[in-house]
Amino acid sequence: MIGLMQTDEKTGREKPLLRAYSIASPSWDDELEFYSIKVQDGPLTSRLQHIQPGDALIMRPKPVGTLVHDALLPGKRIWFFATGTGFAPFASLLRDPQTYHDYDEVIVTHTCREVGELAYGATLIEEIRADEMLAELIGEGFADKLRYYPTTTREESPKMGRITDLMRSGDVFEDLGVDPITPEQDRAMVCGNLAFNLEIKDLLEGYGLREGANSEPREYVVEKAFLD
Ligand code: A2P
Repeated sequence: MIGLMQTDEKTGREKPLLRAYSIASPSWDDELEFYSIKVQDGPLTSRLQHIQPGDALIMRPKPVGTLVHDALLPGKRIWFFATGTGFAPFASLLRDPQTYHDYDEVIVTHTCREVGELAYGATLIEEIRADEMLAELIGEGFADKLRYYPTTTREESPKMGRITDLMRSGDVFEDLGVDPITPEQDRAMVCGNLAFNLEIKDLLEGYGLREGANSEPREYVVEKAFLD
């Protein structure tokens, strides 16, 4: 949870205004990074977008969440499925050595309405591929395991369509040259809007994957992206 202090209109008292965010920076980093949309009249993001170095930000000390490696059984390939700002937790995991240690292949899909919304993820992927410190930390050639599959739904781009439709049609597997998802080989983490999460859960269950938890690791995990 991060946020700012705000004045309560009725009582005039200062109180915290907090929202759940994913930490986008990797766990080894000494800086914390967050990725947010800007809602022009949103109570928090209308102000958050204007904060300056030196301003105070509230952060609750205890992080919670389901997108953790320990909730998954070992597998060959991991899929990160994101829509919109749901990319944030994967921005962290894509820079986590364990991701590449645990899997032979790491596929990240990102579906957004417009091309501009893909920019943060696309830039990050490029930076990861070129990052010499990461190569030293994770192992030379780690980025060869990384596949990136961006799609848009409302603006023209090289790949259009909802990832769920592209899975149903088989396009995504054909484009990437990989076998369709199986519970033996594939693991998945999902983070997006509520409708997307529900639809992709259905698809993954259809492939035979089961939802895992820290107490009972299985084949996939889901987290709701902020602001549904
Ligand atoms: P679409 O434009 O077809 O609704 P949002 O900005 O509303 O959170 O959506 C982010 C992306 O997720 C959009 O590209 C949107 O596609 C897509 N999306 C929304 N609902 C679903 C769903 N049920 N299954 C797959 N993709 C979805």
